[in-house]
Parts: sequence; C-alpha cells; structure tokens
Amino acid sequence: MIKYLGSKRTLVPVLGEIATHVGARTAVDLFTGTTRVAQELKRRGLQVTATDVATYSQVLSDCYIATDATTVDLGELDDELARLAALPPEPGYFTRTFCEEARYFQPKNGARVDAIRNALAADHLGSPLFPILLTSLMLAADRVDSTTGLQMAYLKEWAPRAHQDLELRRPDLLPGTGATVAGDVMETVGLLPTVDLMYVDPPYNQHRYFTNYHIWETLVRWDEPAAYGIARKRIDSRDPSTRSVFNSKREMPGAFADLLGRVRAEVVVVSYNDESWVSAEDLTGMLHAAGHEMVQVLGFDSKRYVGAQIGIFNPSGEKVGRVSRLRNVEYVFVAGPADKVEAAVQGADVSRAGAGVVL
Ligand SMILES: C[S@@+](CC[C@H](N)C(=O)[O-])C[C@H]1O[C@@H](n2cnc3c(N)ncnc32)[C@H](O)[C@@H]1O
Repeated sequence: MIKYLGSKRTLVPVLGEIATHVGARTAVDLFTGTTRVAQELKRRGLQVTATDVATYSQVLSDCYIATDATTVDLGELDDELARLAALPPEPGYFTRTFCEEARYFQPKNGARVDAIRNALAADHLGSPLFPILLTSLMLAADRVDSTTGLQMAYLKEWAPRAHQDLELRRPDLLPGTGATVAGDVMETVGLLPTVDLMYVDPPYNQHRYFTNYHIWETLVRWDEPAAYGIARKRIDSRDPSTRSVFNSKREMPGAFADLLGRVRAEVVVVSYNDESWVSAEDLTGMLHAAGHEMVQVLGFDSKRYVGAQIGIFNPSGEKVGRVSRLRNVEYVFVAGPADKVEAAVQGADVSRAGAGVVL
C-alpha cells in the first residue's frame, strides 16, 4: 500500500472486528484514501462502497474494491505487466518534472514511469485492467521514491530505496463485488447507498491531500500541468476547487456536523485524533444530534505521523524545529443503536489488547 498520511494501518483489525461484531453486511468507507479499511471490510465479506475526492484513491478503489478478482484473467494480467515492465524508457513530463526539476525519483525510474503510463493511456483507457495496471505502477513508484511519505518535499540525500529498479507487481486483488463513488463527499453523500456500517475518516487539520500527494494526482490524470516551487506542485493546487472544507479550521466543524447528519447508516464509526479542530465532546454531541441512540469512544495510543517523527526542516534540509511529542491518542467513535454499539466495543476488545472505553 502507498505511504499515506493518516492511513489506518494499525486500526484495520479493530475496525474489521467492529464490523463483524455488529453483523454488518454492507458498508461505506467515506474517506477511503489507500482503501486499506475498505479492503479489510471486503475481505470479511461485506459489500463495500469506497469514496474519496482524490483521483488516485478512486483508482485504488476501482482496483481493490470494485474489481472482483474472480473475473480477472490473471495470466493475461501478468503478461501485460511483463510487457509494460520491458518497455524501453521514454523520458517525458514525469522525468523532467519529478526527477530533474525535483528529485523525487531517480531519472532511470522516472523514464520507465513515463513509458508505462503512456502505454496505459494508449492501450488500456477505459478497460477493466486499467485501474489494476495503474495501481501496480503507483505502488511500484512509491517503493522507489525519495520522500518521507509526503510529496511536499523530497529528501536532501537520496533514500536508499530510490536506487532500486522500478518493479511492477500484481496487486493483491480481492474476490467479491464493490463500488467506487468519486467526488467531494459534501456532494456525493446523498448518492451513497444506505448501509449497515459507515466508516468516516476525514482529514482533521490543514494538511491537504491534494498537495501532499500531487504526484499521484498527476500520474492518474496524466495531464502535464504547469508546476511551481521546489516541490513542483500542480498549478491547480492554488485553485479553490482543489480545496477541501475539511482543511479549513473555520468551516470544518459545521461541515462535519452537517455531513454526520446526512450519512445513512445504522452504525457510524468515526476515526478521530486529539489534534483535531473539534473536541471529542463536540463530536459526541454531533453524533447524538444526528439521531444515534448511543455513542461510545475507544482510545488507542499510536505513533504520530512521520513528519512529526523526523522533525521540521527548511527547504535546504536543515532542522529548524523540534517535535513536541511523538505519541498521540487515536479515537474510534462508534454510534448507533445501543445493542450494536455494545457489540462493537466488545469486538474492539477482542481484536486489540489495550483498547478501552474512554468516554
Ligand atoms: C485521513 S485520510 C483517510 C485515510 C484512510 N482511512 C486510509 O486508511 O488510507 C482522509 C481522506 O479524505 C479525503 N478527502 C479530503 N477531503 C475530502 C472531501 N471533501 N470529500 C471526499 N474526500 C475527501 C482525502 O483525499 C484523504 O484520502
């Protein structure tokens, strides 16, 4: 899976157990990001719909959630991956922008990304293999990048992995049907199916995914945008249409309360951390106001995101700030009918020692 800010890797087993214990058969992963949580729910046999505004999340969801592995000819897929991997390097926009004007990838790998992505555009646009092949390319590029996992900056010295050769691997596809809904959740929420369980994991601060993962946006759109600054971000990063209400301190609390009032699910599970712009008490209040009979909160101590682990650096790579603390608490709010919420809390305890009801 790609390196991703706020990815719920460590919470995945907890969330899976919660879904199983409430007996959910259908689910929406509302801010799916890497699709990690949606994948876990699909693996457990749920019918899952994954949504996100990021174009790369939509591709990941088309690959892992909407594609039924039993319908894919794996021989054909492997042959195509081998053909793409053998294409001669073709230095183009990706190489120039992200390997020469910036140093996110070695040029030898950038030129192969250019060649493979051009071939996907020429040979596969609109085909069922397209999201699978593009996911394979994104994951391959992620394994040889030279960042800390955010694309606002690249490392001063090459990361050791950047010297490796780009390697296309077959994504681990899952059997079963699912769906992707693309777009801003404030617009798509009304289009989503009514489900047994909704997982809600929004951004809680000013860190924008559009700029933090601008290279994946460009790899998916393949639109060669003008780029600016040391990070070579897309010019439309400045466009209001690429902003999310969840990155605005002023607008986020109202938008979140509005959203929670509009989601249609019996059980709503919300990920939350204590660096958020809304307090745990306010979030509990929002969930009650949305009509849920019971709200319980589970707390998990967890490492903070990688930017905080390594310190704060200026553009020439010098350390300029200290990290205040390295650990924080991650919360999981569970809201719904009392019997379901109690079953969920029991499920979280089963999955993870140390989980406890904190509020
Ligand atoms: C905390 S991350 C989700 C991480 C995900 N649970 C995982 O484990 O990978 C938040 C996600 O919300 C998405 N997002 C931000 N604003 C959005 C909006 N207005 N509508 C839909 N998705 C949005 C971002 O693109 C990002 O993928």
